[in-house]
Order: sequence, then structure tokens, then C-alpha cells
Amino acid sequence: EVEQDLIGQHWVITAGPTMEAIDPVRYISNHSSGKMGYALASAALKRGAAVTLISGPTQCPPPKGANVISVKSADDMLAVCEQNMTTQADVFIGAAAVADFKIKTATDQKMKKQPDSDEMQLTLVKNPDIIATLSKNKRAKIMVGFAAETQNVIEYAQGKLERKGLDIIVANDVSRTDIGFNQDENQVTVITHNETWAPDKAAKSELANQLVEFIYTHSL
Ligand code: C5P
Repeated sequence: EVEQDLIGQHWVITAGPTMEAIDPVRYISNHSSGKMGYALASAALKRGAAVTLISGPTQCPPPKGANVISVKSADDMLAVCEQNMTTQADVFIGAAAVADFKIKTATDQKMKKQPDSDEMQLTLVKNPDIIATLSKNKRAKIMVGFAAETQNVIEYAQGKLERKGLDIIVANDVSRTDIGFNQDENQVTVITHNETWAPDKAAKSELANQLVEFIYTHSL
């Protein structure tokens, strides 16, 4: 039996991609499967935490006992996070792959092909940075981010740790096809302000147990 050492704690976890509407039938999104965030939710639940899982569209089954809230856009995800963190949470984990940009003016009617032009342009604007916003407002005692990189993994992750005001960042190299996006295994480097830890490559479920342990220990 797993020790119930997270009883009384509230963990808020984001997972999956966001979906940014272009018009009522089209969107911009990315390849996040949501598996890592859902595995983290399950791992925290097993130890007795109350878990709010705020998820973009995924195929993952809802973890038993989680309060799962489905969202689409980054704007929705931020609003739902704020609504669920009016009382400061113990831990926030941003495992969602939030779209960097949204459509400047999504139309409420389907966009039509223009007969006189072979080109069309969309103007994109930056999405809010969810984790940086929550961190600035101290919405959780411990803020944990993810950094999916294809090069300079550690250096870029450290930059995000500082810039976004995080306590812990979990970096992984998404240029490797054996880990990360859509895979069941992951290999990560965990970085805090004073240590670096690289656990062995493992199933996302096992890695999630180790990450929850690390986060909890870090909070003591
Ligand atoms: O996309 P990026 O590499 O900056 O993501 C790093 C961390 O920031 C991740 O934890 C991600 O969930 C979070 N993030 C966010 N809001 C964004 C972009 C990223 O919360 N708009």
C-alpha cells in the first residue's frame, strides 16, 4: 500500500494540448497526448492528494478520484486554473502543451475560400503564459513546469525556471523519438534552483511516482 502522505493537500495539474479555434470547424493544436499529466495526477491521487486535473482534449481515461475539468483554449485553461486556485494550492504542475499563439480574431462563421486568391493569411497573437501568471500571483506554494526542447535542453529549461518564476522544471528532449510526445516512456532532467537530477528512462507512470516523490520532498 502507498503511504497516504498527501492527504489534505490540493494539487492542480494541467495536461494535454490546447485547441485554438480558427473558426467553428477548424483549430490550431499540437501533438501532446496528455499521458504525462494524467500519470502525475494518478500518482498524486494514490498518495491521498485532492487533484484537480485541467485538461485539453486528450484520449486519456480520467484518473479515478480526480476532479477533471475539460478545456479547449489556453484562455479557458488559465481561467479555469484561476477559478480553482482562489485558495492557494499546495502544488501546481503545468504539464500541458499550451499553444504559443491563438488566432487574433476567430470568426464565428466558417471561413470560405476566396475564388480570386490562392493565399490566405491568419494573424496570430501570443497566448497568456498560464504558469507564469499563476506563479506571479503565488497561486500555489510549489510551481512545477515542463520544458520540451529539441536542443540546449538544460540551458533552455533553466531559462524557463527563472523567467516563469518556477521552483522545479522537468526538461525533456523531444527530438528523441523513443521518449516524450505520444510515447509511454519518458526520460527527463529535473532542475531546481540548486540541484539537477536525471532519473533513468522509465514508463511515464513510474516516472510520475518518482516526480511526485521529488516534488513532495522538495516542499518539506
Ligand atoms: O511552452 P513552454 O516550453 O514555454 O512551456 C514551459 C512550461 O510553461 C510548461 O510547464 C507549460 O505547461 C507552461 N506554459 C504555460 N502557458 C503557456 C506556455 C507554456 O503554462 N502559454
